[in-house]
Amino acid sequence: MKPYVYITRKLPQETLAELQEIAEVEMWMEEEKPVPRSILLEKANKAAGLLTMLSDRIDEELLRQAPHLKAVANLAVGIDNINVEASSKYGVTVCNIPDVLTDTTADLAFALLMAAGRRITEAAEYIKDGKWNSWSPLLLAGTDIHYKTLGIVGMGRIGEAVARRASGFDMKVLYHNRRRKIETEERLGLSYRIFEDLLKESDYIVCLTPLTPETKDLFNEKAFKMMKDTALFINVSRGGVVVEEALDRALSEGWINGAGLDVFREEPINPDHPLLRHPNLTALPHIGSASTETRLKMARLAVSNIAHVLQGLKPPAAVNTGNHE
Ligand code: DGY
Repeated sequence: MKPYVYITRKLPQETLAELQEIAEVEMWMEEEKPVPRSILLEKANKAAGLLTMLSDRIDEELLRQAPHLKAVANLAVGIDNINVEASSKYGVTVCNIPDVLTDTTADLAFALLMAAGRRITEAAEYIKDGKWNSWSPLLLAGTDIHYKTLGIVGMGRIGEAVARRASGFDMKVLYHNRRRKIETEERLGLSYRIFEDLLKESDYIVCLTPLTPETKDLFNEKAFKMMKDTALFINVSRGGVVVEEALDRALSEGWINGAGLDVFREEPINPDHPLLRHPNLTALPHIGSASTETRLKMARLAVSNIAHVLQGLKPPAAVNTGNHE
């Protein structure tokens, strides 16, 4: 009998071939509605593999009730929705999808940076609202991007890709990372800063760090107060790294000049959330890796991760040793 695999969101059929050859595959057929927890638990109970979204919580409660589970493949590079330690304990291999989304996410981070600097969403709404009466010298004047200082917090693959884009704009690039990366500094012409100095010196601050117990609430009141009052803050990692009440105050009271967010503590964010009332905040619905090409590659890689584990092979992208080694 073929092993059973459950996919928690509708994926294009064309991406499933590698898995369908070796497994019985079932899928939650909604595109925009997450699978209810009770159904996820029920399916996990008989599954050898789960292909999950970042909105699915894979915790000890689920793992305990999943006696056949061998692989959990997240359709994301971030794995903060999965208890990796508990997965290892239960012999479950956890996989993510690095690399395939690096450039697409860096493109989006840079697009948000530019949108925040040049007030693109504000300007687009202005014209559609019929407010444009005449050209005027300082109408919707924003902040330059070229020659400015960019501070990247989290120098992984996406951080490097953002730094490469910034060099095309003649920006000076600073970075902060848990571990200093001398080779990357030399290769890309970056300068390392401790977190506080990066906040004080940067015109644009882009957060790309994974959400971990160490980075949770990293951007709090103290951090926003250290930034220049002209600074623009961009977050493309996870909402949990930002204390949203602090960012709300930072924008209301002019501690910083604006922000661009692709991620929120609670997703989807409530449309009445106070952050969304700021004209100088560009908010996007977590679309960092959302190009059609990349989303298809992501799905294929997640599928391949599970197919490998179920065949006793080393998957392309495992984050623990689980049961495959
Ligand atoms: C990821 O891969 O972690 C992204 O946030 C999903 O787009």
